Amino acid sequence: MISPLLEMKEITKSFPGVKALDGVSLDLRTGEIHALVGENGAGKSTLIKILAGVYPHPEYGGEVVLEGSARRFASVRDSEQAGIAVIYQELSLVKDLSVAENIFLGREPRRFGIINWEELYSRAQKLLDDLHLTIDPHSPVRNLGIGQQQLVEIAKALSQNARIVVLDEPTAALTDAEVETLFGILNDLRARGVAMIYISHKLDEVFHISDRITVLRDGKTIDTTPTAETDEPRVIGKMVGRAVDQIFPDAKHDRGEVVFEVRNVTVEDPSVPGKLLVDQVGFTAHKGEVLGIAGLMGSGRSELLMAIFGAHPGRKSAEILVDGKQIQIAKPADAIKHGIGFVTEDRKRYGLILDQTILKNMTLACLRRVSGRFVTNEDAEAAAGERAASDLRIKAPSVFTVAGTLSGGNQQKVVLAKWLLTNPRVLFLDEPTRGIDVGAKQEIYAQINRLAESGLAIVLVSSELPEVLGLSDLVIVLHEGRVTGEFTRSQATPEAVMSCATGHARRAA
Ligand SMILES: Nc1ncnc2c1ncn2[C@@H]1O[C@H](COP(=O)(O)OP(=O)(O)OP(=O)(O)O)[C@@H](O)[C@H]1O
Ligand SMILES: [Mg+2]
Repeated sequence: MISPLLEMKEITKSFPGVKALDGVSLDLRTGEIHALVGENGAGKSTLIKILAGVYPHPEYGGEVVLEGSARRFASVRDSEQAGIAVIYQELSLVKDLSVAENIFLGREPRRFGIINWEELYSRAQKLLDDLHLTIDPHSPVRNLGIGQQQLVEIAKALSQNARIVVLDEPTAALTDAEVETLFGILNDLRARGVAMIYISHKLDEVFHISDRITVLRDGKTIDTTPTAETDEPRVIGKMVGRAVDQIFPDAKHDRGEVVFEVRNVTVEDPSVPGKLLVDQVGFTAHKGEVLGIAGLMGSGRSELLMAIFGAHPGRKSAEILVDGKQIQIAKPADAIKHGIGFVTEDRKRYGLILDQTILKNMTLACLRRVSGRFVTNEDAEAAAGERAASDLRIKAPSVFTVAGTLSGGNQQKVVLAKWLLTNPRVLFLDEPTRGIDVGAKQEIYAQINRLAESGLAIVLVSSELPEVLGLSDLVIVLHEGRVTGEFTRSQATPEAVMSCATGHARRAA
């Protein structure tokens, strides 16, 4: 029997109205990658925050034992000093500071008490080089895409030379190539004896990288199994407590008329004049259909949608037509007025007000309409919110729960509900299921399909290729800001789409 490096025993943790952890046990061995999986709200992040000292003793019950001795971390600093580094699910970088400043925040190299900037930047550069990341350490984090920010978070955690590294949904915003890079790094760490806890909803990755898998459900440990001795259907069954069969709905979409068309959308990188992020892109969206936009990270997918929505400072040109009539969108409010809804990839920046209730967040986008033309009816509003929350199975004590206290996946569901309540004609979905568990994904896919069937035009961006292919009636592919391919549902094979996404093939249709 290998004695574990870390044991968490019978951990309990309650929040007002929620028992988040109800006797969770987990052990971690030197040099293993231990996957922690479970549905949204199962308690994964909460367990990690106890290990990280975010919730110090006695805010939780049970015992944390490190190398045989019981430990009670009083603070994050305390946990870090014990050799534990955590990469959180919600990015926590300071946007106005540079990459290097973020990596060494609070641990800046100093000489005679003064920050040694030269050393700070050269160490950051070396760290980024070691990780094969081509990110400029001087660049302000604000200018990085969400995927790159995630890689900086990882570099930051690794800079602490931790014995235990915890990764909470690290690949949610990474491209396949970046995931490969990350896995290379994790394998190196494992070979050096570092122990890792790896939280992910992407079970293919979990099976690829982990040595053991622990399943949590409703705040309880279901079991721990060596990865080699189990399989995906069994793990999913334990996570959701039922069998999940078909993930994607059978689509029967009738192509309606064109409701939405854009032409000549061009977006310049605000921090690099002359560099085009989107170069003369156009597309049409039909009523009753899902238009998928595929592409690698950095191909301009999100920038395209943001520019159309009036939310990108680098927009150079865009002709936008709704029902064949040209409209002007200068700011998001104009887009909303014309019936465009937008579920954004970065829910912290554009999607959610974390210290407001679920209900406030849901009704925010339609508030003006509700209180303008009609009299605000709080009961009706609450009822609509309740209905949306139950349709999407948002796990919370009530719609008056503060959004920031929800688990990551449930926050995403609130963002989706918010835009659905605006009754849009065209709905942009940018990474709608990032961080969402398989069971809830199936529900969201069914919801997307129902919306299309009810006559909405949906424009879907996702870096999960199966998701784009499984839901879209038509797929366009972007590479370096340009359309490099266009496929109908039957033509869109993963190989064909990928070869356009990597720039190896030109327009297939
Ligand atoms: N600060 C908080 N205040 C109140 N409730 C909370 C707080 N943090 C978490 N919870 C609740 O505790 C439960 C577990 O949440 P947790 O974030 O640990 O889930 P998770 O397994 O990480 O889910 P996900 O896969 O969505 O990230 C949820 O019901 C959540 O709403
Ligand atoms: Mg979580």
